[in-house]
Amino acid sequence: MKFFVDTADTAAIKELNDLGMVDGVTTNPSLILKSGRDIIEVTKEICDMVSGPVSAEVVATEAKEMIAEGMKLAKIAPNIAIKVPLNWDGLTACKAFASEGHKVNVTLCFSAAQAILAAKAGASFISPFIGRIDDIHYDGTDLIEDIRIIYDNYSFSTEILAASIRSVNHVIDCAKIGADVVTAPPSVIKSMANHVLTDKGLEQFLKDWAKTGQKIL
Ligand code: G3P
Repeated sequence: MKFFVDTADTAAIKELNDLGMVDGVTTNPSLILKSGRDIIEVTKEICDMVSGPVSAEVVATEAKEMIAEGMKLAKIAPNIAIKVPLNWDGLTACKAFASEGHKVNVTLCFSAAQAILAAKAGASFISPFIGRIDDIHYDGTDLIEDIRIIYDNYSFSTEILAASIRSVNHVIDCAKIGADVVTAPPSVIKSMANHVLTDKGLEQFLKDWAKTGQKIL
């Protein structure tokens, strides 16, 4: 399973990347806003740091303009994956980018039907937003499961990039289903290390160690 980090915070990406936890990065207009940085500048910095795909999202609403924006984003670095929304214009742009050999991440996917279209249009990644589906009281992981079955039935090469990950349980559920990639905020990735019994066990070991009066160094 690959881990992408869902952020444009370069310090957070560096910390995880230095530990070998980063197979790629995803950004979107909201994350660029949160970073307070210029999209081209911050995306370039991320691409220089991370060797895997870095998704940079177009903001135009019509295919022709999306294609122009995407081509500009693709020039930032060879590891850019151009991110387009899952609507008809986005699919048109996806096909154009894929035909030119660019990686494309089709985002804002909320149904299996949409995921089929993205695969047909040559997407490298499909991004189903599971947290936002949970927000409206459906089960986001059901969608990951449906897409997994469909893509496997037809050997589609599009990778399932589970997005809108809000919790450690989301990551585990996606791993059990067989999502190819999970993109999660740094806080979720770091909290995967936490366990109450680890803390409790360590506390006991340290107490007992103190009683031995020994030192290792
Ligand atoms: O990868 C998409 C992600 O950034 C959206 O997450 O939590 O805003 O639904 P969220």
